[in-house]
Amino acid sequence: MNEGATGHPEDKGVDFLQNALDSKNATTDNALRPPSFHDFTGQAKTLERLQIMVGAARDRGDALSHILFSGPPGLGKTTLALILGNEMDRTVRITSGPIIEKPGDLAGLLTNLEEGDVLFIDEIHRISKTVEEYLYSAMEDFRIDIMIDQGPNARSVRLNIPRFTLVGATTRMGMLTAPLRSRFTLQTRLDYYDHAALNTIIMRSCNLLEIPFKNEGTREIARRARGTPRIANNLVHFVRDYAQQRGDGVINLKMAQAALELLEIDANGLDEMDKRLMRIMATNYRGGPVGLSTLAVAVGEEEETLAEVHEPFLIQEGYIQRTPQGRILAAKGYQAIGLEASLSRDYGPDQEKLEI
Ligand SMILES: Nc1ncnc2c1ncn2[C@@H]1O[C@H](COP(=O)(O)OP(=O)(O)OP(=O)(O)O)[C@@H](O)[C@H]1O
Ligand SMILES: [Mg+2]
Repeated sequence: MNEGATGHPEDKGVDFLQNALDSKNATTDNALRPPSFHDFTGQAKTLERLQIMVGAARDRGDALSHILFSGPPGLGKTTLALILGNEMDRTVRITSGPIIEKPGDLAGLLTNLEEGDVLFIDEIHRISKTVEEYLYSAMEDFRIDIMIDQGPNARSVRLNIPRFTLVGATTRMGMLTAPLRSRFTLQTRLDYYDHAALNTIIMRSCNLLEIPFKNEGTREIARRARGTPRIANNLVHFVRDYAQQRGDGVINLKMAQAALELLEIDANGLDEMDKRLMRIMATNYRGGPVGLSTLAVAVGEEEETLAEVHEPFLIQEGYIQRTPQGRILAAKGYQAIGLEASLSRDYGPDQEKLEI
């Protein structure tokens, strides 16, 4: 059972979403991960690009070129990296940017690879500058020149590396340097899933977990899952628990609605933190513009979490807008927190009514 994210009815909505997104390595993530292109729903463009690359590499008997996935948490970056390994019939070695501290760590990883293996570096934007420089020659020339020893004994040793595939994942494309980005043959962005795709994913999860469901029940979960499969799967677990305790174990509309209400996730998938954020923008900052760091302090949340988890969805759905001056609450945002846009703005006497 994945930690925290599922079975605690007393959890508030805020914690629930955070836990859902923190539970990257939870066992349920693995149990429900689609193992092949065939089982993967949505992301049609990305999928087609990958299928073409995999097909061509297989036909040539070559290693797959380097691939970079970007996009918000929980949309399938790690899943796709693992699928690439399966489809290429090669091993996937998983690591993460902050773990590779020294060039020596990278050298260790690379020299242990076999021809055609996939090295998956999660959170690749958090790799150190020095390690990044070494990665360049590894990706381009399949070798690294590494310094060993220090002082008068220092010398450079060239290590040849088997042709491998680097698959990088990042939730913050903007934080990746241009030289690193340009060394990936394919850079592809994952988007939020539409309700139909999420519903398919939810039904697949219910079938795998042997949970009885009604279509209206899964559709309700899909509507409130913020376009994110990981959240959808975590909601499935909670609604199942709820239906077991309060109903007959079947995920139907009534059970889904009641369970999601208990989690304080509203009809549009907005949770308490989203709404707190928008409420503070409206009341304390007159709808903005307001900087992200200011907002983070005001709502008592990490700036990174706001930028990676909350903001992308709110922007995509048109609740807030990002401008060079800061974040602005849009009319839809005011509606979501039950306020009138024009009422909470303080217009000067000669000021035109702002279009927001
Ligand atoms: N297209 C999909 N079809 C079915 N399930 C999916 C799909 N995409 C993701 N999932 C499910 O969602 C879970 C989260 O996906 P994944 O771990 O790949 O996200 P991620 O993009 O790597 O997130 P993070 O940035 O947090 O690492 C997976 O365990 C998988 O079960
Ligand atoms: Mg991941």
